[in-house]
Amino acid sequence: MAAIALPRLVRLGPGSIEEVPAVLGQLGLSRPLIVTDPFLAGSGGLARLRAILGGDTPAFTEVVPDPTVASVDAAVAMLGTGDFDCVIGFGGGSPIDTAKAAAVLGHIGGAMRMLKVPHVQDAPGLPIIAIPTTAGTGSEATRFTIITDEESGEKMLCAGLAYLPMAAIVDYELTLSKPKRLTADTGVDALTHAIEAYVSRRANDFSDGMALSAMRLIWANLRTAYEEPGNRAARAAMMLGAHQAGIAFSNASVALVHGMSRPIGAHFHVAHGLSNAMLLPAVTRWSAPGALARYAACARIMGIAGETEGDQSAVAKLTEALSVLNRDLAVPTPKSYGIDPGRWQSLLPLMAEQALASGSPANNPRIPDAAEIIALYGEAWG
Ligand SMILES: [Fe+2]
Repeated sequence: MAAIALPRLVRLGPGSIEEVPAVLGQLGLSRPLIVTDPFLAGSGGLARLRAILGGDTPAFTEVVPDPTVASVDAAVAMLGTGDFDCVIGFGGGSPIDTAKAAAVLGHIGGAMRMLKVPHVQDAPGLPIIAIPTTAGTGSEATRFTIITDEESGEKMLCAGLAYLPMAAIVDYELTLSKPKRLTADTGVDALTHAIEAYVSRRANDFSDGMALSAMRLIWANLRTAYEEPGNRAARAAMMLGAHQAGIAFSNASVALVHGMSRPIGAHFHVAHGLSNAMLLPAVTRWSAPGALARYAACARIMGIAGETEGDQSAVAKLTEALSVLNRDLAVPTPKSYGIDPGRWQSLLPLMAEQALASGSPANNPRIPDAAEIIALYGEAWG
């Protein structure tokens, strides 16, 4: 049996941001706090959302990349200053994840650290409305948020229905102005969600359909969106693909790439999609024997292998194609990114321990121990 959870409402398509007041009305909500970052606050994005909402809607604008416990606490403090009945997360993964954490913590109280897995927070906090401005995290469709504990340097995975947005506004026009690097990093994150959801031990027939559709859309359009930021058809496909990938992994979980990626992000401040990309070819190669037919199906749906091609050959082409994608998207290795080799080496045991503690590696088709994770970090190093 599969247990599926989805947002109650999704508005999908160009200009759907104009629908925010209608969505709030449908849900019986009227007093939102907007949670966004300084870039959107300063670039006109927030002003436009406020104009659509028709008033000077209060906004927390101090979201930081890789949101920290302190930044969530600041958003919670602002929630406490008014009679808010919902939280609107507006931006990339960081604003949406901050909005989710604040909506839960502001309602139930306590400390963010209490909410990391294995804790599961199903009982709801405030309703969450998510408006992504990147085609990547899929956070608008997931029951997860990732908050960094700045004291331990750990990216804490927090899970449960409380984090699943009640509504998602998926408007690709918000991504048209995004720069190439951001398009690449967020796009590979979405591709990783789709692949990991499909090969996950917790995959099911529903998540499979979403994951395969997402892979097909993302693979066919990521390079175009990267090379031609204003290409509307490519942006539309990427936004739909990233959303479907979010639905897929929210209902099937991610696996070893994400488990290993979060410690790289936490310790070396590498963008989430970039650290996924650094790991994806090596982890795919290592994991493939655990689910050869599944990885081969990924290669076929992406058009990397022919329909009649054998599994072994299809998977070999997949791992090669993922390496070529990294080259085309100018993805560095940890080494060429400039990470200090001594610090990398000394942190590897902790990184492996944190990867395992997140639970994600246990969903992988081939389950590693700490030594194998350290070896894979070594293979990705560069
Ligand atoms: Fe991700």
